[in-house]
Amino acid sequence: MIRLVNVCLCLVALAVGAAAGPYGSISFAQSNNRAAIAKDTTKPTDDPWWKHAVIYEIYPRSFQDSNGDGIGDLNGITQRLDYLQSLGVDALWLSPIYPSPQVDFGYDISDYENIDPQYGTLADFDRLVAEAKKRNIRIIMDMVMNHTSDKHPWFIESASSKSNPKRDWYVWRDGKAGGTPPNNPPNNWISIFGHSAWQYDPKTSQYYYHRFYIQQPDLNWRNPAVERAMFGSVRFWLDRGVAGFRLDAIPTLFEDPQLRDAEELEGTNAYGDRRQKDDRYENLPEVHDVMRRLRAMTDKYPGDRVLIGETYLPNIQELDKWYGGAKHDELELPMDMQVGFSNRLDANLLRQRINDAETKINGNQPLFVFDNHDNIRSWDRYGDGVHNDAIARILATILFTSRSTAMMYYGEEIGMVTTPPTRKEEVKDPIGITGWPREKGRDGERTPMQWDNSKNAGFSMADSTWLPVAANYETKNVKAEESNPDSLLNWHKQLITMRRNDPALRHGNMIMLDETNPSVLSYIRSDVAGHHSILVALNCTAQQQTVTLDPGRAGVHGAKVSTLLTDAPSLNQQSSLTITLPPYASWVGSLQ
Ligand code: GLC
Repeated sequence: MIRLVNVCLCLVALAVGAAAGPYGSISFAQSNNRAAIAKDTTKPTDDPWWKHAVIYEIYPRSFQDSNGDGIGDLNGITQRLDYLQSLGVDALWLSPIYPSPQVDFGYDISDYENIDPQYGTLADFDRLVAEAKKRNIRIIMDMVMNHTSDKHPWFIESASSKSNPKRDWYVWRDGKAGGTPPNNPPNNWISIFGHSAWQYDPKTSQYYYHRFYIQQPDLNWRNPAVERAMFGSVRFWLDRGVAGFRLDAIPTLFEDPQLRDAEELEGTNAYGDRRQKDDRYENLPEVHDVMRRLRAMTDKYPGDRVLIGETYLPNIQELDKWYGGAKHDELELPMDMQVGFSNRLDANLLRQRINDAETKINGNQPLFVFDNHDNIRSWDRYGDGVHNDAIARILATILFTSRSTAMMYYGEEIGMVTTPPTRKEEVKDPIGITGWPREKGRDGERTPMQWDNSKNAGFSMADSTWLPVAANYETKNVKAEESNPDSLLNWHKQLITMRRNDPALRHGNMIMLDETNPSVLSYIRSDVAGHHSILVALNCTAQQQTVTLDPGRAGVHGAKVSTLLTDAPSLNQQSSLTITLPPYASWVGSLQ
């Protein structure tokens, strides 16, 4: 969540809405060239499943409502598993479904070992896991270890008296000497959701620390009892068969033990607070010891359980630490936010950041992601309002033809748009109320999934849904895109199929081509033996571009290509290594 505000601020001026693509009728070469995708017969048996996976994030409130209350639920997800299988996903990450007062829509947990009745029951969950397994789809839980809800029994106990045995499970402190509560917080730290990170509690005359909402008190990870309790809940879900965890806001686990003031920076945030450096409460080195112990514990389970980190970090060196660097003993997949949240379709920038992930993380496996429930959708962040559909194809091509594990967000595959509230009274996400109008909150990227053109886009039979369905659902929906071979949805399916079956995409290395070209991102993926290579060229500009690809740069020989997938009709019959790409065109071909 760390960069949400920045992202919102830079992008507030961008047009939000569907846009026509540059081509009247897009035609695909892939159907003719299917045979050209070699069947993978060389699959090594020792690769963990997550290395080649497509992980699909579901925001359960918004995916499918099965009981007509206007809120999505677990049985709704189970109903849609066939769709997810047809898309080709390997795992679902569910944002939190535990009992919660829902102040932060589940990220404020009041019981770590149950299901919120809004979403269903533990039996529904077990059925989802079992049904998903039949389709080779795994379930990944969201684990919020930094904070609980203020309604969690631990916090209620902790707040009850200064001598309560759970007092030290949270971060309680006296106010600054000489001041008067509630105006003398222990230091100047601000919450990422606005204003002081300290909340005064008159009952015990102390403040507690909250990096997020007031209703999300931070746990004190310097107390070993907290780790024991939280690891117990991790085991609860591992024993129930989950494939792993997405670790929420994980760099926020520790704070400076001396609680020293943060250094102030120029300017204010969306909430009017003076900006400050976050190094007193973000990404402190102590967190890595916890990650190593967590990894050692999950490693004891069979089936390659995976730890994924929500890791917004300043650079690749910091990201590498989250893997445990060369020791590979922390997270398997901390998210690389440098590529997907660069927020500019800039060939130089993308090339450099993808290269960093290829070369500077000690051979660990990168995890790329362009979309999630905290940020304006990539459709709008990268789109120029005119070529959004073609730009979305470029992003999908990078996601599925790079060597990275791929993570996507529901609706990304059909090009769902961000639909922010237009009036403060409509806002559901509390930061949109605190920050209005500079920060409209995250409702816009959480609107219901658009399944078809029926009532509420097929999401729910209710008269009203928890968030309104986006206005364009009658034309932009799964059903319409399934029946259109040229749709963005079918583009995703083609790429995912190719990625799964093609040995070069599955196991090959990745080498950038034409490395100084500021307009076209191009690269080669070659399988280990070098017998088969895939070339990719993506025009990141609104002008036609001609490139000459030189596979020799990667030590590979070949003078002819054939097109596997493109959205430019003019490239269907491409055979030469000199390629003229129309504006924002994507081209994927094999080398002969
Ligand atoms: C993460 C979640 C975000 C949530 C925050 C606090 O950033 O992605 O939705 O509000 O953590 O738990």
